[in-house]
Amino acid sequence: MKILIVGSGGREHAIAWKAAQSPLADKIYCAPGNGGIAEYAECVPIGAMEFDKLAAFAKEKEIDLTIIGMDDPLVGGIVDVFEKEGLRVFGPRANAAILEGSKAFSKDLMKKYHIPTAAYENFTDAAAAMEYLETAKYPIVLKADGLALGKGVLICGTKEEAMDGVRSIMVDKKFGDAGNALVIEEFMTGREVSVLTFVDGTHIAPMTSAQDHKRAKDGDQGLNTGGMGTFSPSPFYTPDVDAFCREHIYQPTVDAMAAEGRPFVGIIFFGLMITAEGPKVLEYNARFGDPEAQVVLPRMNNDIIEVMEACIDGRLDEIELEFARNAAVCVVLASDGYPVAYEKGFPVTGLDTVKAKEKDGYYVFHAGTKLEDGQILTNGGRVLGVTAIGKNLKLARQRAYEAVEWVGFENKYFRHDIGKAIDEAEEN
Ligand code: AMP
Ligand code: GLY
Repeated sequence: MKILIVGSGGREHAIAWKAAQSPLADKIYCAPGNGGIAEYAECVPIGAMEFDKLAAFAKEKEIDLTIIGMDDPLVGGIVDVFEKEGLRVFGPRANAAILEGSKAFSKDLMKKYHIPTAAYENFTDAAAAMEYLETAKYPIVLKADGLALGKGVLICGTKEEAMDGVRSIMVDKKFGDAGNALVIEEFMTGREVSVLTFVDGTHIAPMTSAQDHKRAKDGDQGLNTGGMGTFSPSPFYTPDVDAFCREHIYQPTVDAMAAEGRPFVGIIFFGLMITAEGPKVLEYNARFGDPEAQVVLPRMNNDIIEVMEACIDGRLDEIELEFARNAAVCVVLASDGYPVAYEKGFPVTGLDTVKAKEKDGYYVFHAGTKLEDGQILTNGGRVLGVTAIGKNLKLARQRAYEAVEWVGFENKYFRHDIGKAIDEAEEN
């Protein structure tokens, strides 16, 4: 098979790395790709939002399967464009990707189908939102309706903060059109877990659990980022929690989308909060997480192409997912200053050291890099993700931080506490 992957981050590197192991994959292309993906795939300089060019490329090269990694093209309807051209593609159509594209839509869906989530109200008018805040309970959570690079959520401790938040999202349009509508929701406490699930429109195949660290600095301080590190599995995602989620969250969400005439094919990323009252949905995404993919895929024993093909054909019930009984930790190496301002263009050293130890369970997934004259250069805020496998989380964490030291570049920055809270919880 000829395969095209659309995207350019660490997640797409992990997908390309996994796809390259499939005996079904004869040739892989990636648009636009990055310096690391180039090892497994021929990178093509077409942007992820250039749907017509991508479809024309897929036709010209007789691509058998296109995999969409990123949210923007999915929400923008890339799958519809490919399907119209008779091309086979893995990912939800725009009318299903709205599960991620509109938080107001997803909240209303959960309410209608009794899927556990935080209590909320939707607003399209700033004055009405502010009036609601007068009598609300604090802390409270504000969410810009649309896509905002994972940064459109504000947790507000006081009424004043929340009023400022409404102004910045709905009036000043800090997140652009994503702030045309606003969800105001109850603040939940508990353990956060992410579960990525293959979906074929009808059936579900949940993958092993993972947890992200969204804040830029140690101790969950600093600004929200795309994700500074992950671990898998989460010790808080017990078999009881899994059973509850399958029955009351995952399957009902897929059934609800089908009932609404929006059958979902692809990946649903369930962002969950395990509260004292049980698991509730924090958010849905319509794709693999980044850097969740970088800890989940190295633990997956299945052929990813086979699973994706089963999703497209509606026969996911024939597939049994299997994950190794170990753990993985991914530490993101960023450029100092991310997520605000940072420099690019520095040479990266030590990548071969990690690569040479791949058979021992060390991996490096490129996020913001480019290959220039045979040299890998930093080319983004999140530069690389270093993943290590271990028998348990504590060992995986030790090994990931060991490998972090092998890789060098100017302005290298990373969090020192990825998975630390978990080590401590496991020891007690
Ligand atoms: P989201 O993009 O919806 O996942 O939100 C980003 C982060 O904000 C989540 O990972 C949570 O840490 C936090 N968050 C979102 N909604 C809530 C909520 N209702 N209660 C508490 N924390 C929340
Ligand atoms: N790591 C969070 C996300 O991919 O949305």
